[in-house]
Amino acid sequence: MDAWKTRKTWLNMFSRLPGEAARTPEETARAELNCFLESHPEESCTLSVREDMGEDYILTDTGVTGGSAGILYGAYRWMACRALRVPLPSGKQSPACALRMLNAWDNMDGTIERGYAGRSLWFEGGRFSYDPARIRQLGRMLASVGINVLCLNNVNVREPAQGLISETLDELASFAALLRPFAVRLMVAVDFAQPVREGLDTADPLSPEVQRFWAEKAKKVWEAIPDLAGFLVKADSEHRPGPHTYGRDHADGANMLARAVAPYGGVILWRAFVYNCLQDWRDQKTDRPKAAYALYQPMDGRFCENVILQVKNGPYDFQVREPLSPLFYGMEHTRLALEVQLAQEYTGHQIDLYYMAPMWEELRAEMPAGSVAAVAAVTNLGRDDNWTGHPFAAANLFAYGRFAWDPASDAEAVAREWAALSYALDESQRETLVSLLMSSRAIYEQYTANLGLDWMIEPGHHYGPNPYGYEFSPWGTYNRADRFGVGVDRTSRGTDYVGQYPAPWRELYEDPEKCPEKLLLFFHRLSYGHLMADGRTLIQRLYDDHFEGARRAEELSQKLNTLDLPEPDRKEALERAALQVKNAREWRDVLNTFFFRFSGVPDAHGRTIY
Ligand code: GCU
Repeated sequence: MDAWKTRKTWLNMFSRLPGEAARTPEETARAELNCFLESHPEESCTLSVREDMGEDYILTDTGVTGGSAGILYGAYRWMACRALRVPLPSGKQSPACALRMLNAWDNMDGTIERGYAGRSLWFEGGRFSYDPARIRQLGRMLASVGINVLCLNNVNVREPAQGLISETLDELASFAALLRPFAVRLMVAVDFAQPVREGLDTADPLSPEVQRFWAEKAKKVWEAIPDLAGFLVKADSEHRPGPHTYGRDHADGANMLARAVAPYGGVILWRAFVYNCLQDWRDQKTDRPKAAYALYQPMDGRFCENVILQVKNGPYDFQVREPLSPLFYGMEHTRLALEVQLAQEYTGHQIDLYYMAPMWEELRAEMPAGSVAAVAAVTNLGRDDNWTGHPFAAANLFAYGRFAWDPASDAEAVAREWAALSYALDESQRETLVSLLMSSRAIYEQYTANLGLDWMIEPGHHYGPNPYGYEFSPWGTYNRADRFGVGVDRTSRGTDYVGQYPAPWRELYEDPEKCPEKLLLFFHRLSYGHLMADGRTLIQRLYDDHFEGARRAEELSQKLNTLDLPEPDRKEALERAALQVKNAREWRDVLNTFFFRFSGVPDAHGRTIY
């Protein structure tokens, strides 16, 4: 039952699960440190709290100075560095943004939307159901990497989750209390139509009655949980209710809620994932990636101070390869949150290995300075003993915390640190593990969605290849492959999606000769004979990548087999690697066959295509 207690997360290297006594982050820091010093008698460390330092901290060889939360972050960092015998970070450490959130998509029936690590850690059977010790351990995991907000229910708010801010508010408050000693605050996803659920006949944001409803609701909720971070809202998106139902726009909707929560310091995280999910596939003018910018950019400057527009990293939906959403360039007068997805919905279901930090380094390179006020990640956690399904998927949670705190982090260094904290491997084995992580995204991309050709995935569950799966569907996700070529023309001659980007991006994406190769088929429709930079034709490149990606997946599995991992991590990782190899072959053969049948062009190297 408690098998999770014996699993090697990155925490187990330097201390044990603290008792219930700690009530504040400072007390937690002291308890953790005492524990650490017992097993490291050669070390000494004193903690000094300086309230004005907030989340910041400073480390020395023998001390941690930090604010009320910073003292805890500093203590964890100090212990990790000492355990690993690496230099302490020098100077004052401050987070890049104040809100570093995890969004759980947990339903109250215990399922998790896009969850690949078992059932919910805190819901079951329509109510709260959890092991408090495990929630404390979760708090430690989050605090140890500086994550400070947890939104605990699915953005698709379904009954009885609406009750979290009414009938079950007390239980929500008890849950919040469990995480408080770890400086983790709660957030709740709310239903825009909550007033209707509670007896009003409208949820119109301009109705005084609705405004009163939310003002009273906020008062009650913040009375119960004074440090609640805010509400997260998915409105007018994939059939969720929203202001559009009442002929109002999203500034009207978000601002109404923002005014209700402002007296308590609450924020409204308003998701920008809005598009027409009932598109006619015959319609070649509508282009889904354009939807969010078209809707929100004209509203720039109209949102209240405490509204944060939460934007997925790309304009589609957490695909393997997307350009940065153009909203990050076009909303200078609006606070934005960057949303990424640790749950491997489109990236291998925590079966295929997929370390995400290299992607965040790429995002950083495209992100204009100062455009991000907060970060959110859809979690990859669940009730599995190892927390994340694939034991290595924990590296994504660890790295997310690190990058959220410091976007200038180095993906490889973070992977190395995670590996060293999690497993007692010798140096060469550790380097093998690091190299497996570091190559994993590129390999997955190569056998699935090379050149930015997204969405060729099985519809619904999103694992495995199906190039026709979304082709005649209403979701706005088409590859438009035919016997002449493949891709959607998003240049000024086509849907003009590129027009939503400023210079120099627009010019770069517009021209197939300058467009980064990884995004070539995201922006362009090209013939199979199109010559790539290295002289290969497009069709040959598609074949080569799929063959190469599947081969590298096999190699990855062989390397993994050489690692002396503890059980059951080894077994779990190897079982998944075997499934990944099968999946990669399937992608290779299905996609190659699909393109061969359209193009009629044989593989230049005579390899088998069906
Ligand atoms: C994706 C995902 C959904 C989710 C949605 C969202 O479309 O498949 O399960 O609800 O994103 O981010 O809201």
